[in-house]
Formats: sequence, structure tokens, C-alpha cells
Amino acid sequence: MCLVNFSKTVEKMNSVLQCMDCAQQYPMTQVLYNCEKCGGLLDVQHDLTGLRKTIDRAFFDRRLGTLQAPYNSGVWRYKELIYPDVDPQHIVSRPEGNTNLYRAPRLAKWAGVENLYLKHEGENPTGSFKDRGMTTGVTQARALGMTRAACASTGNTSASLAAYTAWADMEGVVFFQNKQVAMGKLSQAIAYGATAIQINADFDRNLELVREISLSLGIYILNSVNPFRLEGQKSIMIETIQQLDWQVPDWIVCPGGNLGNSSAFGKALYELCELGLIERMPRLAIIQAEGANPLYRSYANRFAGLEAMSAETIATAIKIGNPVNYAKAVRALRWTDGVVEQVSDQEIMDAKALIDRQGIGCEPASACSLAGLRKLVDQGVVKPHETVVGILTGHLLKDPDATINYHNHTLPGIEARYPNWLHRAEASVAEITQILQSVHSRSNS
Ligand code: F0G
Repeated sequence: MCLVNFSKTVEKMNSVLQCMDCAQQYPMTQVLYNCEKCGGLLDVQHDLTGLRKTIDRAFFDRRLGTLQAPYNSGVWRYKELIYPDVDPQHIVSRPEGNTNLYRAPRLAKWAGVENLYLKHEGENPTGSFKDRGMTTGVTQARALGMTRAACASTGNTSASLAAYTAWADMEGVVFFQNKQVAMGKLSQAIAYGATAIQINADFDRNLELVREISLSLGIYILNSVNPFRLEGQKSIMIETIQQLDWQVPDWIVCPGGNLGNSSAFGKALYELCELGLIERMPRLAIIQAEGANPLYRSYANRFAGLEAMSAETIATAIKIGNPVNYAKAVRALRWTDGVVEQVSDQEIMDAKALIDRQGIGCEPASACSLAGLRKLVDQGVVKPHETVVGILTGHLLKDPDATINYHNHTLPGIEARYPNWLHRAEASVAEITQILQSVHSRSNS
């Protein structure tokens, strides 16, 4: 058997940290989250000119199906685009990514398009897309010699941070809101052994607190303000497009909370285009919950500025009123000629019920993708013949309360339009048979 040495094909690349506003550069070894000169957000900037000469589609296609670490990860398969210079001994991988891209004809019909694919990021090791950013973030923490890492979280980041720090034998610290954190996520953070702190403050305040406290105690911050997180999350786009045999869909639709994912998507697509791996940009549609819609409001106002708000939605993952990556998300929208839409909690839960009913399922925030797509088709923004990829960001099991309460008709203010029934019976053959027959005849009528 021929063992290909995948790591030897690219020379040293030399990436830097670069401010997105003033282009000030910093070495990758500096622990930094914002520009020291102007406060702008930082990008990990790769040497695209050098990369253009060394990689192409076939380079990444050769790695498909390999069992060789770290290239068996759906993040590290694209190492040259994500963190070319990293010392492989620092890489902390589960391995993540390699998530399915489902063709969903029944949901496509419901949304009003011919071709809909759903990229299921809930199939990552801890059940959300966060693992793709956490592998790069924790790897960087290790490369920097940090022993403690922290985040504020609506739940998924904390589950992922807790798992990856445990795997790396580091100390994880997670700040939660003291209410409305979905059970699946809370239980993960506790089980993986992070120092979990419930705080009487919303996500936005917790993010301020974690930044202040981590800076003073020398703890590495792994919220999406950390540019290494976003490098890993770029792989969602790269992997999707490779799964489509490098053919670009017309639209990418994703939920938006702290706007790390949409920012990462914009950077990935921009770089893929610059590197000649794709021929054109897809358009990005970012969907927010009506009660947590600061980006939507700013978009409706031609990006006059971000107005922070107090957020409220059943999609607790995206209950965020002051998104830290706002400027990068606006840049992503400009690069991709993107749009922003908002959906109600009712629309989110109905779309979720339909995705669940397909047998793949997702958590409430993820259903923004389908609910938002249907609205955009209704408005004529997305055309029926266009090919769409919707991102499902988290697993169905993350938020069992939302699911059960929907089907039980006990979600305040929400009517279950696509309910399933939980039948109850005595241990009686006659009673159970009657239930089965009535269900069978109803589904055949
Ligand atoms: N979907 C899910 C399931 C999420 O957990 C999040 C964010 C998003 C969408 C939004 O992504 O922030 O990059 O725009 N969850 C974070 C957390 C904030 O703490 O787990 P974003």
C-alpha cells in the first residue's frame, strides 16, 4: 500500500494577524483579540500569493477518505487554508467536520426551490459547528503555551470548549446565563469537567465579563472574537463546496447570532475565489430571530451602525443582542452581495418540526436557515431555480425541552402547526392495537 505523505507538499507559509480596519500586522505568537492601534477585529491573514502556486482542487481531493491524522479531520484536511504553519504536535482534534450534505427535496418544495441541500453541522463531535472553530482555537492555545481557556456561551461554544480542553488536558472555564441554557448543552459542559459558572447576566454581558477576567488572569479567550476560531469554521464552506465537486451553489443560508460563522463563511469564500478554487461567489443569506435581530436592523438601515439590543427568542443559541463580529459579517455580506432576513419564533419552530420530521433534525436556531429561505423565496429574493445550501448548526438533542414542548402544545405564544403525538396507553393489546390502527388509517387517508 502506498502511504502518501500529505504534509510535505507545501513549503512554509508565514501567516500573520492583521487588523481588518487599519491592516496593522502582528505575529501569530501574540495573544491578541483586537488591534492595539485602532481596536479593530483581527484576521488570520495567509500568504495567498504563495498558496496560489502550491494548492489546487486535486490537492485537497487526494486527501479525501484518508485515515491519516490530522488530514482525516474535515477541518485539517484544509490545513494550508486554515493554519499552514502550525506545528502538528500541537493539533488538538477529535477529529471534527466530515459532516453530511443532505439533498432535501421535500423541504426544498416547502421552501419553494428546486435544489436544497442541508449541511448538518450537528454531526460534529459535540453536536454543533463550534467544534470546527474549537479545534483551531485550542490548538492555538496549546501552541501559545496557555493552560486555561474560557468563553461566554449560549451553550454550544461551552460544550465544545469543555470537550476540547478536556481532550487537550487543559483547564476549561465557561460562563453561562443563569437561565434559558438548553439542557443538552449545559449537561455537556458539566460532564466534560469544565469550570462552569452560571451568572445572572445575559450572553452579551457575560462576554464582556469573560474578556475582562480572562485578560487579567491570563486565560485564553475562545469566543469567536478569537480569529483562530473563525479559521476553523471556514472549513464548513470549503467542505461543502468540495462535496459539491467544487461547484458553487447560488445561496448559502445560515443563522446569525454572534456572527462568527457568517464572518468565517465570507472569509472562506473570498479566499477560495482568490485562490482560484471556485469561479464565483455564492450569495450569503444571514437569518436572525426577530427578537435578536441587531444585524437585520442595521441591514434594513443600510448598515448605518449597530445598535445593541436586549435579546429574546426561543432559539436560545442565538439570543444575542450585541454581536462581536458585526463588522466582519458586514464585510462578508458586501463580499457576497448578501442579504439579511428575520424570522419569528413561530416560523423557527415550524421549520424545525419539518426538518426533524425528515429524520435528520436540528436545534431551534438551526431552523432559521429553512424558515428564512422560505421567506426569501416568497419575497422573490431567492429564485426557485437557484441552488441553495442551508446550514444546520446544531443537533436535535441539544434542546429537548423546545422539541417536547412544541409537540405537547405547551410553548407559550407558539402554535404547533406540524405536531406529532405522544400516545399513552395501558399495557393492553386492544388499546395499543387501536392506536396503531387509527394512526395507520390516518396516515393513509
Ligand atoms: N446556531 C447555533 C446552534 C449556535 O450555537 C450559534 C451560536 C449560532 C447558530 C450562531 O452562530 O454566533 O457564529 O452567529 N452559539 C454561540 C454559543 C453564541 O455560545 O454557543 P454565530
